[in-house]
Amino acid sequence: MPRHASRRAASLLLAVLAAAPHAAAAQARPTPAAAAQAQPASAPATASPARRPVTDTIAERVLACTGCHGAEGRAGNEGYFPRIAGKPAGYLYNQLLNFREGRRRNARMTYLVDPLSDAYLHEMAAHFASLDLPYPPPARTDADPAQRARGEALVRHGDPARGLPACASCHGAALMGREPATPGLLALPRDYLIAQLGRWQIGLRHSAEPDCMAQVAKKLTPQDINALANWLPAQAVPVGTKPEPASAAAPETAPALRCAGVSEIRP
Ligand code: HEC
Ligand code: HEC
Repeated sequence: MPRHASRRAASLLLAVLAAAPHAAAAQARPTPAAAAQAQPASAPATASPARRPVTDTIAERVLACTGCHGAEGRAGNEGYFPRIAGKPAGYLYNQLLNFREGRRRNARMTYLVDPLSDAYLHEMAAHFASLDLPYPPPARTDADPAQRARGEALVRHGDPARGLPACASCHGAALMGREPATPGLLALPRDYLIAQLGRWQIGLRHSAEPDCMAQVAKKLTPQDINALANWLPAQAVPVGTKPEPASAAAPETAPALRCAGVSEIRP
């Protein structure tokens, strides 16, 4: 998205948040609403985006998130922005904390979540997690059959010789995640997947410790990442697919790696 559009999205969010009176009351931390109220009273009414009438619902207040993450948070598998609709609430919440606390770096995401309280982050995460919306058709891929087979084999079986567990052992048999905090791997853009795995490798993305994905990512070669990023977005998501319940983890496939946020969601 062009820079001015994402700037507009960010300021719209702050305007919408500022216009939500109960959001302001719920905040323990300083809020955009408080900042807006601190404006000089002489500011012309027409210049104040906070005066825009909005209904005070969470769906209204998160409208500006959808400027980047797609209508209702269902960004497609082209471009870069990750879909957030339908991901487990614990995962979404952990990411909002990760941006706020510096374990993930994206200037705009950090700017948006920095003033918000844990309670508000929870509310937004629960809202997007509750959306049960169709997925985009699979992305086209130019990968040759050998590369596709390599991608699928890594996802389903890992590479035991290198101590690499199957992605499916944590991300679910349908690869659409597992409650409470493991995300799905389908319907994400190729460029986003490559970037995230690369960031874990070089230490620009972390989850709270123990950071199992950092260990997984560090075992991947550039060829592995390419194969995964070609195969995953090219898979269809059957209608109605949801994250698996936490109880779906079969003991024989339970990974040896421990992941923060999966067994230890912070309140
Ligand atoms: C200016 C564009 C923009 C806006 C507005 C925006 N985001 Fe994001 N968001 C991004 C980008 C880009 C990423 C991926 C960053 C990265 O590479 O790690 C992201 C990542 C995320 C993630 C992690 C997704 C995942 O699968 O790991 C969540 C959750 C999220 N955003 C929630 C929100 C919420 C909630 C809002 C509204 C308060 C919002 N975003 C507004 C651009 C935006
Ligand atoms: C031991 C369990 C485990 C295994 C094995 C595993 N993952 Fe993950 N993965 C996770 C968890 C937990 C998260 C959420 C991390 C966080 O909260 O930041 C995650 C997050 C991700 C994300 C971020 C998704 C997003 O929306 O930003 C990607 C991409 C990913 N994993 C890819 C893979 C791939 C590819 C494999 C196989 C090569 C794999 N994972 C194997 C547990 C695992």
